[in-house]
Amino acid sequence: MVDIHSEKIQSSVNEKGFLDIELDPTLDLFAEIEKLKKEKNAVILAHYYQEPDIQDVADYIGDSLGLAQNAATTEADIIVFAGVHFMAETAKILNPGKKVLLPDLKAGCSLSDSAPPPLFKAFKEKHPDHLVITYINCSAGMKALSDIICTSSNAQKIVESLPEDQKIIFAPDKNLGAFINKVTGRNMLLWNGACMVHEIFSLEKITKLKIRHPKAKLLAHPECEEPILAIADYVGSTTGILKYSQTDGSQEYIVATESGILHQMEKASPKKTFIPAPPNNACACNDCPYMKLNTLEKLYLCLKYETPEINMDESLRLAAKKPMDRMMEISARYGL
Ligand code: 13P
Ligand code: SF4
Repeated sequence: MVDIHSEKIQSSVNEKGFLDIELDPTLDLFAEIEKLKKEKNAVILAHYYQEPDIQDVADYIGDSLGLAQNAATTEADIIVFAGVHFMAETAKILNPGKKVLLPDLKAGCSLSDSAPPPLFKAFKEKHPDHLVITYINCSAGMKALSDIICTSSNAQKIVESLPEDQKIIFAPDKNLGAFINKVTGRNMLLWNGACMVHEIFSLEKITKLKIRHPKAKLLAHPECEEPILAIADYVGSTTGILKYSQTDGSQEYIVATESGILHQMEKASPKKTFIPAPPNNACACNDCPYMKLNTLEKLYLCLKYETPEINMDESLRLAAKKPMDRMMEISARYGL
């Protein structure tokens, strides 16, 4: 029997952010993960940006709203969160009785990092008559400074649920905020944050691609910059983009979001063609470097040894839960 709390195992996580234990290369990780899930009553929740192998062992794959809703209601004893830190933290905020694991603690988020709570607190204090709506891609500290949390799939409804004359600060994503301002006619004050993956798409290269593929529809995530959203045929969350590609009649799509989503799009519509939108240089920048820190090996080790685990101070958790609860209530009201 392995001692999952042994000092050697815990110190290995502390140094690197994940368990660095050499694995027998003949091990069937898919079968081992299935076995461990049953033994431990564990569930794997994965975001669409995870590598295909991780998506294939997940019990639920979804966008940030779907993942939060699942995390809040799961009856499993252990949640392995195959996503980034703020997502696993959100699961812990909503379901503190569960053990929440993240395969690599260094799986952060550039958008979340663009809003450090002390800076945001000072900004908020300059606008005391404003209500704060914060995109879920943020730390627990930022959530605790917010009135309502939103995701890309409910942001519009949440803003529209407030009186038209309500002054609002929207943080941290300026692109999503500007898009919601455009579709709702509001004038929310925007924090100047952005996602490094969604800001890298090249309008020029997408335009050239559209010329070469005149029938291809452009599907874009609202974290992209305005000029790309302006020429998109559909703008929505990852789940929205996936659903659109399943129900729409076209055969070809240019996809302006992280490339991991293509796995489910291709699985659902094997006869359709999905082209990842090109970035503005030659790198693989439409892979999120944080999401891609998780691997099947790390996921297996994290489930087996039940570490790294997400924990937080109870007063911070309760403060961060309040705006999450408001989001959940408004989403339920609109059947989202
Ligand atoms: P959604 O899956 O909620 O659309 O969010 C995308 C994202 O950037 C997650 O990090
Ligand atoms: Fe954060 Fe962007 Fe990566 Fe999503 S894709 S986790 S917003 S850095």
